[in-house]
Amino acid sequence: MAASTAVVLDGVPETMLWTLYQRAAEARRPDTVLPDPEAVSLVEAVAESGGYPFAERFGHPHPLAAQALALRSACFDTVVREFLDAYPDGTVVSLGEGLETAFWRCDNGRVRWLTVDLPESLAVRHSLLPHGSRQPSVACDARDPAWTKGIDPARGVLVLAQGLLMYFRPPEVRELIAVCAEHFPGGGLVFDAVPRTPGRPADVAARRGPPVARGYRLPPMPWRMNAAERPKLAGAHPGIAEIRSVELPPGRGLLWGLVVPRVLRLPVLSNRRPTVTLLRFASR
Ligand SMILES: C[S@@+](CC[C@H](N)C(=O)[O-])C[C@H]1O[C@@H](n2cnc3c(N)ncnc32)[C@H](O)[C@@H]1O
Repeated sequence: MAASTAVVLDGVPETMLWTLYQRAAEARRPDTVLPDPEAVSLVEAVAESGGYPFAERFGHPHPLAAQALALRSACFDTVVREFLDAYPDGTVVSLGEGLETAFWRCDNGRVRWLTVDLPESLAVRHSLLPHGSRQPSVACDARDPAWTKGIDPARGVLVLAQGLLMYFRPPEVRELIAVCAEHFPGGGLVFDAVPRTPGRPADVAARRGPPVARGYRLPPMPWRMNAAERPKLAGAHPGIAEIRSVELPPGRGLLWGLVVPRVLRLPVLSNRRPTVTLLRFASR
């Protein structure tokens, strides 16, 4: 890890530092829901070398957000591990991977793990994290199907889009789903979505992102989806064979362990909650 690199990012690419910062804070706890030593050492090394002013930019890590983001990663990890049980030599494609360290949490010693991210984000990742022979990468906009080239669907393909699709416009999300279904028959795509905000028109959400720290707002999130809207995803491509909800694992503490799982079962809230969805594509 070359921690002396100064990290200069803004807009959506900078959000990869916010999610990493929160995950690392959660992973530092002895009772963490997501052990992630790579994330912890990455944040410490970058902060100590002055590479990025995490605390100045994002304030103190927020325990609830930190656990929520770690649970989201744990949820994706579960899907990856299930996939690797079925396809030990398969390819995991992580779109908008940022500084996710899921490879080190899930590696089975055989997986091919392709990182796809914007050039400026990928340059930061390359400067901070090691990349072995099974970890190729492509500097490419995920909305450009060029990243699909050279991936062998016969060995099994799982595409991850964690913390990415909310920053796209709705037609771009449908197009990305269609590209995955077209290129990876028999494969899958897992992604998270933020719900629509009641009383907040979609065009407002598309202009202004949520505040997450004093002085820092996430970028606008034009694509939102309530849980009940999932069936509509089938219209993106005829090759979509299954649409599955992936539930967060139980969390820790009163809120994430007890209250959130129960409250989210209430009909009015179960529709308006962040979701993780797995799409499976039919084999040809
Ligand atoms: C919120 S971060 C998520 C990072 C990581 N997946 C995680 O969950 O920690 C968003 C990531 O999406 C990447 N990104 C934004 N727009 C993109 C695009 N059009 N194509 C590919 N990656 C993109 C950013 O560079 C950044 O790495």
